[in-house]
Amino acid sequence: MESMHVSLILIGLSVLCPRTGALDEHQLEEPVLYGPSVALEGSTVEFYCEIPGRPAGSLPLLYELYMESNPGRMIGEHSSLFGEIGTIPLVINTQHDGRLVCKASGHNNTDIRSSLSQGLDLKVIVPVANVSIISDPAGDDVWEGQTLTLRCEKSKGTYVSYEWLWNERPYGTTDDTLIIHRLSALNSGDYMCVASNQFNDTTTFNSSSAVISVKVKESVGGAVTVTPVTHTGRDFQVVGLVLRCAVERGSFPHYRWFLNSTRLEGRGGFYAVAWSDGSVLSLSVGPDSAGFYHCEASDSFDSRTSVRSANMLINEEVLNRVSPAAALVVLGCFALLSAAVMSCCVYGVVLRRRYSGKNLLIEQRRRMEIAVKHEDEEEDDNYPETLESYEEDAVLADKMSDSAEEDDGSVDETLLCEDAVSK
Ligand SMILES: *[C@@H]1O[C@H](CO)[C@@H](O)[C@H](O)[C@H]1NC(C)=O
Ligand SMILES: *[C@@H]1O[C@H](CO)[C@@H](O)[C@H](O)[C@H]1NC(C)=O
Ligand SMILES: *[C@@H]1O[C@H](CO)[C@@H](O)[C@H](O)[C@H]1NC(C)=O
Ligand SMILES: *[C@@H]1O[C@H](CO)[C@@H](O)[C@H](O)[C@H]1NC(C)=O
Ligand SMILES: *[C@@H]1O[C@H](CO)[C@@H](O)[C@H](O)[C@H]1NC(C)=O
Repeated sequence: MESMHVSLILIGLSVLCPRTGALDEHQLEEPVLYGPSVALEGSTVEFYCEIPGRPAGSLPLLYELYMESNPGRMIGEHSSLFGEIGTIPLVINTQHDGRLVCKASGHNNTDIRSSLSQGLDLKVIVPVANVSIISDPAGDDVWEGQTLTLRCEKSKGTYVSYEWLWNERPYGTTDDTLIIHRLSALNSGDYMCVASNQFNDTTTFNSSSAVISVKVKESVGGAVTVTPVTHTGRDFQVVGLVLRCAVERGSFPHYRWFLNSTRLEGRGGFYAVAWSDGSVLSLSVGPDSAGFYHCEASDSFDSRTSVRSANMLINEEVLNRVSPAAALVVLGCFALLSAAVMSCCVYGVVLRRRYSGKNLLIEQRRRMEIAVKHEDEEEDDNYPETLESYEEDAVLADKMSDSAEEDDGSVDETLLCEDAVSK
């Protein structure tokens, strides 16, 4: 066994280095290969191979060109019959990319042993073209928190470098792939990839992809607010109310309404849920509808996670009762009016035409009522938001009453006073 190994190694050595050590007149010296190190696909370039210092008139030689990775397939040759340099033209294709070697051997003379040159590295440049972005997931279907992978694809091109643009500014990645982890809305924008390669100092090629618009969709989150948008009244009583629910963040929110933790769906005896996202609830105010209301917002495609609003107490009493504070204001106004009645009477007719009173008074009372009531009954609620909501409501009601100009039948004197005070 041992001796077999040794003999195998000896045979191997004798094949690799025939007659090593012994000075042999039939062993050719090492040829030298030179030529360009960069070439364009499709161009014709020449490589040169020679054994330096060969005397003129020596034996004819054959120079052959190979890819080092594929020694079995000759890609070009030159017969040097009179000792001239071997000139080997090559029409460049992508298979020529790599390391070239030149083999020198005797021309039709097997007595002369061949020799190989050192390798010559060649880069084959294929101009980059037809660049596009492959987005995973698709740019119009990405959600915050996901990972977005944008790949810059080319139909052809070698030795390509990449640049990414985000809203026309460099993104700072030179990879062919741009990966963004944990997307947020801030990552939305227009993405573009520019691929380029260079042949020499003056010749570069580039190709730009189309722009991909990425819109990162948000899940619902943040505060949920319930705002009374309009109400209807009769004989100083609020008989109907429209509530709107809104969530701070979320691209596709869907809303659900609850009275005392019971879901209100579609249309019922005293309510109707409106709008495709369920954000609006219309109520008729009565004994049936009294209770604590809240709404919940969730993503329309996934109702498992939701955020909810504070409870809002709605009943006839709360909406219509006159509070001591409101009464005080009214009394105070009345006193002021008495003092100013002489000066006011000139303008009274004018004001009478301009301002309709009923709604304003009801609004004023209700605004204070509900604010006070909320403070009393729901300490844990988001109180400032509720207040803000009611202020918005009041403004809306003010506008409504401003426009109701013809309703001048019975202007309450306290209202004239209120106007006089607020102006
Ligand atoms: C030398 O070899 C070539 C093939 O490489 C052959 O065509 C040619 O006839 C040969 N010439 C002589 C003189 O043997
Ligand atoms: C660009 O690529 C598309 C497919 O990716 C192909 O259909 C088209 O022929 C290519 N155009 C060029 C000029 O290579
Ligand atoms: C670059 O390549 C082009 C195209 O082959 C050639 O016209 C130009 O002279 C080259 N420039 C330099 C600086 O080598
Ligand atoms: C792309 O090529 C155009 C000319 O073809 C050149 O004006 C532009 O500067 C190049 N862009 C890049 C990024 O190399
Ligand atoms: C909701 O709860 C309140 C307080 O517990 C109660 O007064 C009211 O009647 C309830 N409403 C309904 C519709 O159950």
